[in-house]
Amino acid sequence: MLKSDAFFKDPDILKAQELIQAALHRHQKAFKGPKPADEALKVPYEKLLDEFKSLRGGALWYPYLGSGFGKGALVELLDGSVKYDFIGGIGVHYFGHSNPHVIDHTVLGALSDTVMEGHLQQNKDAFELSKLLTTVSGFDHSFLSSSGAMANENALKIAFQSRAPKKRVFAFEKAFSGRTLALAQITDKPAYRVGLPETLLVDHLPFFDPSDPDGSTQKTLNRIEALLKRHPNDYAVAMIELIQGEGGFRVAEKAFWHRVIDLMRAHDIAIFIDEVQSFGRTPKLFAFQHFGLEGKVDIVSIGKLTQICATLFTKEIAPKPGLLSQTFTASVTAIRAATWVIKELTEKGFYGDTGRIQAIHNRFKSHFERLQKNHPDKISGPWGIGVMVAFTYKSGDAAETTAFARKLFDHGLITFINGSDPTRIRMLPPALVVSDQDIDHAMEIIATCM
Ligand SMILES: Cc1ncc(COP(=O)(O)O)c(C=O)c1O
Repeated sequence: MLKSDAFFKDPDILKAQELIQAALHRHQKAFKGPKPADEALKVPYEKLLDEFKSLRGGALWYPYLGSGFGKGALVELLDGSVKYDFIGGIGVHYFGHSNPHVIDHTVLGALSDTVMEGHLQQNKDAFELSKLLTTVSGFDHSFLSSSGAMANENALKIAFQSRAPKKRVFAFEKAFSGRTLALAQITDKPAYRVGLPETLLVDHLPFFDPSDPDGSTQKTLNRIEALLKRHPNDYAVAMIELIQGEGGFRVAEKAFWHRVIDLMRAHDIAIFIDEVQSFGRTPKLFAFQHFGLEGKVDIVSIGKLTQICATLFTKEIAPKPGLLSQTFTASVTAIRAATWVIKELTEKGFYGDTGRIQAIHNRFKSHFERLQKNHPDKISGPWGIGVMVAFTYKSGDAAETTAFARKLFDHGLITFINGSDPTRIRMLPPALVVSDQDIDHAMEIIATCM
């Protein structure tokens, strides 16, 4: 028997786990629903926020400082308020706040000798997660990293090396891929690269337009053909978000992706799908599976809800030794949480036409349809697939939408904005725990704020 087994299975450790669960159960009973801030905590909270603003050199987007405790879709802030969290750290809290299973699963990770696993220090947790990811994705390899940006950088390096000396990138208008020097060129937001040198040659293609499916598909194909003529044999990779996250939960039809990707593959362009935001949230585990693109994709990156990020790739495109490495992959607790989340999602009826993801989407949709019927000039949508749900408030003016998101926050519902022209309000609700009642209650808050 390994000494570690003897330690982690020691009756005192098991007892401690039981005590933690019992205390959690007792204290979570205090969460009954959203509630405003405690009067006595308001002033100290404002002071904390001001100090934090000065420490980090800029204000927080929301006045959100979590207490570190919550229950499911509800989170407690340090001012004593409790809010519905329907964006969960931008989609990180997929399993909700203070999830007893996640705590139980990660508490032993917190007792591990290692805080961060990494290059020369891979424990069995990293092995188990890598194996699970290759099994559920069908890819041959899984390289772990701690941020979406790093997973995407690794993906780009793999793609460039496989297609060297080709150096150009295809991306889509309104894409978001991260904030490193290279990714800032692919992210289609000029404000995010002010003052930065140009590090990559990127051509942005027009996205699918649902109001003109055939015309917009043809427009994109024509643009690809024209660029291939202008820069012959020079495109190494296409970086694609199948559902645009920051871009406004814009969705293209299946046929669009097949035609675009088939054309690119015919020109030996590596296909890299960025699923950092969409992974786990569509009616299939991966968005590329939802769009039936199995066998047409070389690399996929995932992140956010997994707590840890990863670059998955085929053996045909695998890099030469030396290309990928980093000191840290992620913390032991993050890796354990990732393994738990993926197992839960794949084993507990979340996917398929009758799965929980689709049921959550349908519930939101029927609420939005009703609201739209009563207030056609005030709200439209929803956009997105599965549990990526966005709506447009009035005309989608950026300032008005931001003000509306802040109003929702003050009324106990945390959402976030995305897109531009129109700007939308988006939600990435905690699918593992969100109840129908939570959704109904959140939609009541939206209706009240309208
Ligand atoms: C599609 C997509 N790619 C990449 C990233 C970057 O991930 P991270 O912020 O973890 O670096 C994000 C983050 O929002 C994203 O939505």
